[in-house]
Amino acid sequence: MMGSGTAVVEAVLEDRRGIGLDIDPLALRLGRVKTMPLRADSLGAAGYKVISRAHALLAKGKAIEQNLAQRFDERTKAFIDYWFLPKTQRELTALALAIEEVADTPARRFLELTFSSIIVTKSGGVSRARDLAHSRPHLVESKIPKNALEQFSLRLRRNLGSIAELKTNGVIAAPLAGDARSMPFADGVIDLIVTSPPYANAIDYMRAHKFSLAWLGESVVDLSELRARYIGSERVGSAEYVRLPSKPERVIRQLTESDASKAAILRKYFVEMRAVFKEMYRVLRSDSAAIVVVGTSVMRGIDVQTHHCLADIAAELGFNVIGVVRRILDRNKRMMPARFGRKTDSMIEQRMHEEYVIGLLKP
Ligand SMILES: C[S@@+](CC[C@H](N)C(=O)[O-])C[C@H]1O[C@@H](n2cnc3c(N)ncnc32)[C@H](O)[C@@H]1O
Repeated sequence: MMGSGTAVVEAVLEDRRGIGLDIDPLALRLGRVKTMPLRADSLGAAGYKVISRAHALLAKGKAIEQNLAQRFDERTKAFIDYWFLPKTQRELTALALAIEEVADTPARRFLELTFSSIIVTKSGGVSRARDLAHSRPHLVESKIPKNALEQFSLRLRRNLGSIAELKTNGVIAAPLAGDARSMPFADGVIDLIVTSPPYANAIDYMRAHKFSLAWLGESVVDLSELRARYIGSERVGSAEYVRLPSKPERVIRQLTESDASKAAILRKYFVEMRAVFKEMYRVLRSDSAAIVVVGTSVMRGIDVQTHHCLADIAAELGFNVIGVVRRILDRNKRMMPARFGRKTDSMIEQRMHEEYVIGLLKP
């Protein structure tokens, strides 16, 4: 659940071997680029070459039209046609083709992320969506998307400015694709886990990431299937019944009274997190810690107390709970769902400004 790979980068900076797992293809791409040795000057040269190549492709036009006609499968094409104007599609195809021609893998991966960042933005970037960072995407008929090549050029400059060369000193940094419920590690080999799992009822990453991943060769059908495997996803299947500790059971019961389907989502989240804690316990060495950072969730006005529920679930599996502490978040750094601002949400809003750190020890 490494997200953009912050914990892996910090591990490397501490001369530790850092391994991160995530199920999200965009998170993985971010993690890989952040832990790769990159050089700003050669990335800059590759980036500016991509821009002039994309201009040349656009001027000719034919290669773009041909590529657009066979770039996507049927469902992905329908998605692209809905969310991107024809002019933007041509610009993005030109950029994508020019990036595909970059032979140097670290440079190409860096440029793919720059490409992604002109689409997955708060404002919906060059797509026709109103907002991708927060809410369910909404199509805005009147939106005139900016020129993709200009946006790429702006982002490139900004991203080049933020590259700090990561000196790995030969230390291994490995962002891996994987499910936190079945980690590809032997028993008792991990010295420390630092992670921040998804929250119940939280932001749906895939909803937004799909917008750029579709351009980077993924099919929306595959991505939708993958989405069901995200912890905290709202798709409730016929999972086996697991009896949870009394605190989570109590919150689920309370929520069932006002909203049975939300209660089922919450149960599924706790059961999935239980599988994660079980796996964490298995891979950790004895006398080693797991630090788990969780946000707060308010569902139908009920404060879920995720931190206490998760601590109890971990304790039942054998962990010693060393402590659960509150951390106040910087308002300006926290991404808020767009709906905030209504009076009725004030309690939720207040709770969104804090998170909890759960300290666990495998005896
Ligand atoms: C709250 S975010 C982590 C944010 C991270 N701390 C950061 O700095 O970017 C939770 C992450 O868990 C990932 N995730 C969800 N379900 C997962 C699963 N079954 N296995 C592994 N990772 C999963 C999501 O893709 C997301 O990147």
